[in-house]
Parts: sequence; C-alpha cells; structure tokens
Amino acid sequence: MTGSEAPLRTRLWIGNEWADARDGATFATLDPATDETIAKVARARAPEIDRAVEAARTAFADDRWRRMNPHKRSRLLWKLADLVDANADELALLETRDNGKTLFESRRIDLPGVAQTIRYYAGLADKVQGDTLPVAGPFLNYTLREPVGVVGAIIPWNFPLSMAAWKVAPALACGNAVVLKPAEQTPLTALRLGELAAEAGFPPGALNVVPGFGHEAGAALVRHPGVDAISFTGSTEVGRTVMREAAATLKKVSLELGGKSPNIVFADSDLRASARGASMGVFYGKGEVCAAGSRILVERSACDEFVDALRGLAAKMTVGDPMAPTTRLGAIVSGEQLDRVMGYIDSGVREGARLVAGGERVKVGGCGNFVTATVFADVDPAMTIAREEIFGPVAAVIPFNDPDDAIAKANDSLYGLAAGVWTRDVGKAHRLAAEIDAGTIWVNTYNQYSPASPFGGYKQSGFGRDLGFQSALEKYTQLKSVWVALDG
Ligand code: NAI
Ligand code: MG
Repeated sequence: MTGSEAPLRTRLWIGNEWADARDGATFATLDPATDETIAKVARARAPEIDRAVEAARTAFADDRWRRMNPHKRSRLLWKLADLVDANADELALLETRDNGKTLFESRRIDLPGVAQTIRYYAGLADKVQGDTLPVAGPFLNYTLREPVGVVGAIIPWNFPLSMAAWKVAPALACGNAVVLKPAEQTPLTALRLGELAAEAGFPPGALNVVPGFGHEAGAALVRHPGVDAISFTGSTEVGRTVMREAAATLKKVSLELGGKSPNIVFADSDLRASARGASMGVFYGKGEVCAAGSRILVERSACDEFVDALRGLAAKMTVGDPMAPTTRLGAIVSGEQLDRVMGYIDSGVREGARLVAGGERVKVGGCGNFVTATVFADVDPAMTIAREEIFGPVAAVIPFNDPDDAIAKANDSLYGLAAGVWTRDVGKAHRLAAEIDAGTIWVNTYNQYSPASPFGGYKQSGFGRDLGFQSALEKYTQLKSVWVALDG
C-alpha cells in the first residue's frame, strides 16, 4: 500500500466547478475486488450534458482559451503532467479500487504512461501548423490548422485514466474544448484529472468531466448539436450506434473498438520468449485489453511444447487482492463482465475445445469477481471463443500449418486491431507485418505502446488513430485553405 488516500471527487466537473445533477441523481461505483460501493457519483443525463457542452462552447469562444498563446498551452499540459506525477500514488490507488486491476499495473505502468502521454502532446501544442501551397495564378494559398471545436470523448473502463489522457491531451493541445464521459464502472480518476487540469491553469470549460451511463450521458453527448467531434473507445456494438447517431449532426467520428488479435508463434521462434509474450499478451490487465492477443496461432509442430509452456505460465498468474504485490490477476471489472467471461469459458468447453488451464471462478476475501488464467488448446477457428472478443483472461490456441495458413487464419476475423508475430526469420516477420490486416503489428514482443506511435484499428476495430503526432492532428484539427489574390 502506498498509504495516501485519494480525495474522492464524486460530482460533475463543469466549467472548473463541481456541480450536482439537476435532479440530484447519482449512481454507485463499486470496488470490484470487494463488491463494496466506493462512492455515489453524480449521474449526468441530457440536461447535465447540455450544461457541460455549453461550458465547453463558452470556453471555445473565449479568447482566454481560443487565442491562448500555443507556448502557454504547451506549458499548461506540461504542468498537468507534473501534477499527475505528483499525485501518482493516490491516482493509482483510486484506479485500482475502481477497476480492480493490480496496483502494480496502475502505479508502475498506467500512471507513468499517462504523464508521458500528456508531456508528448505538450510538445505538439506549439507545432500545429499549416503549409504554403504552390497554386497556379497570381495567388497566395496557405492552410491553417484549426481546432475542431468541442470534442466529446467517451472512454471505457479498462484503462480509465490512460484512455482519458490519450484523448484529452491531444484534443487540448490542438486547442479544442473537451467534454469527457468516463465509463460508469470507473468514473473516479477522470474526475480528479479534471480538477488537476484546473490546478494546472486550464481555463473554465476547457475540460469538463461528466460521469454517467452510456445510454444516457454518452448518447446525449453523441447527439448534441454543440459537439463537433466524438472520440470513442469501447465495444464494436456501441461504436456502430455512435456512428449512426452522430450522422444526424454529421460529427467527425473516430472509433477505437474491439479486437480478437492474433498472436502468431512460429516453430523457429524462441519458444520460451514467445510463450512469455503470449501469456502477457493475453493475461495482462486481466485480459480486459482491446489489443489482447486472445487468438494464439501456433505452428503445428511446436504446439505441444508451446501449450505446455503456456500452461505453466498461466498457473503462475496469481489471482488475488489487487493491492497485493504478488497478485498478477486482479478482480474482473464487474460481476456482469465476469458472467460474460464465464459464459465464453462454458462455450469453449461445450464446443469441444480442450481446457488446459484455469477456467475457474474464484473468491478472494469473500468476493467472487475473480477468474483464473484460462487456456484452451485445439481450438477450431469457427468456435465462439476464437471469434468473439471475450475481454477476460482467456486464451484460445489455434494450430496452423505454414505462413500462408497463418496469414489466412490471422485475417479471418471481423476485427483488425493488433497482431503479434514470433519468429527468428526476419523475412517472414516483415512479410507477415505487411500481410496482416491490423493497425499495430508487434514482432517478437507484444503490448508495446508509446505516445509517438499511432494506435487504432483496421476493419471493424474502427478508424482514426489514438496517439501519434500526425494522427492526432488529423483527428483533433480541421484544415482551412486560404486564397489571397496578389494582383488586387
Ligand atoms: P461499452 O462499449 O458499452 O462502453 C464503452 C463506453 O461507451 C462507456 O463509457 C459507455 O458508457 C459508453 N456507451 C455505452 N453505450 C453508449 C451509447 N449508446 N452512446 C454513447 N456512449 C455509450 O462497453 P461495455 O458494455 O462496458 O463492455 C462490453 C464489451 O465491450 C466488453 O466485454 C468488451 O468486449 C468490449 N469493450 C471493448 C473495449 C475496447 O477498448 N475495445 C472497451 C470496453 C469494452
Ligand atoms: Mg468501479
């Protein structure tokens, strides 16, 4: 334990002030490791979204934000990153309580990544620039890169503060005003981030945080005519709804959706390393990771040895109290999500996959929101566990015969978020990197992220990219072309 208790912020954060829902409505956010209520949080619905969007529009029209010197915007982001660092212990604790992930992951992986992301985009704030273009005739033509306006950011519960940073930092760097709707399961760190942004010096309305449910707060944000763009991360199913609903007001939409990412292991790879990489690829973060390498494709000749190694590693994924340093698998985010995961495990058994590790729901300290790291072998690509996103610590090992078969099986999915390739053959590695339809390819590694490297999907994993430099500009700015007659 790090000791320090986080200040619990539970009201709406609008225009740099705390506010209640108009009718005083709240909802409970739970600690999934105990099933206890951490806090009752203000519940935004359409009227509260109206208020938040109005605050954002006001900020966007206000010279204090709209005309802020870009070097100052950069300094504010840098200051926010410093405040995240200064409060990292309490933010990590809050994240772990709200989500159930291990404190190790919150404190050592998520929080440093959040600060790093904000600093990266601090560096973008004063590099938003246009071009001078070689047009014919007596004209000067140049482009201005301008903010989109008010950005609605809707994020999931698996990496609450990281996803907030991935969207808020580039949006603010480009001069937009933001309304952030955290997931109903994990609203707490986003609220604290809003408060820290005010402390850093962001003017009222630049960042507003409105917890609430998807069908209420999220839907109202997507429909709101005062919102210019929606940046969404979540399920493919809700992504479809967001796109459809955003059509009425022709919002600019970007969607980072689900995945069923293949992690491809060739017999010529270092099998100890590939088994370790496959284990972390699918079990990290309880498997509640959009890029989880949940389809492990293994060259047939290496299958037995690989499955043995993976089974051993799964057994070492200690399930337990997320606060304990020995724990590798914390609590699944909610009882509902665990029911979904257990349903998939049952379907794997029913459809004839061979369960070689885990598959058990377990209690920790009397609370039953835990499941052991699960490995299915001999999985047929047609089985449900090979096709649908499970979002839990469940691996499906599927044999393949040769590189062509691996490519065909890897691409046989509606999704295309990420893929891993494990081989010592450099030609094969690059060939697969080119031929697999996915937004990120990891070779002899998995789950690497950097703010410098764009992240997002092919196919039904969505479109638009989080992170990156150019990709952030494309998402959070619009381009204006200016013509000036030189002979007038
Ligand atoms: P979800 O897609 O419902 O939730 C993600 C965010 O969207 C939340 O903030 C939610 O409040 C919001 N939302 C929900 N309905 C909305 C609507 N109609 N309009 C606007 N916003 C809306 O995901 P959920 O139900 O929490 O998880 C279900 C499954 O989705 C998981 O089992 C997993 O397979 C997948 N998922 C994938 C994620 C990813 O990062 N790719 C993240 C979360 C879930
Ligand atoms: Mg919670």
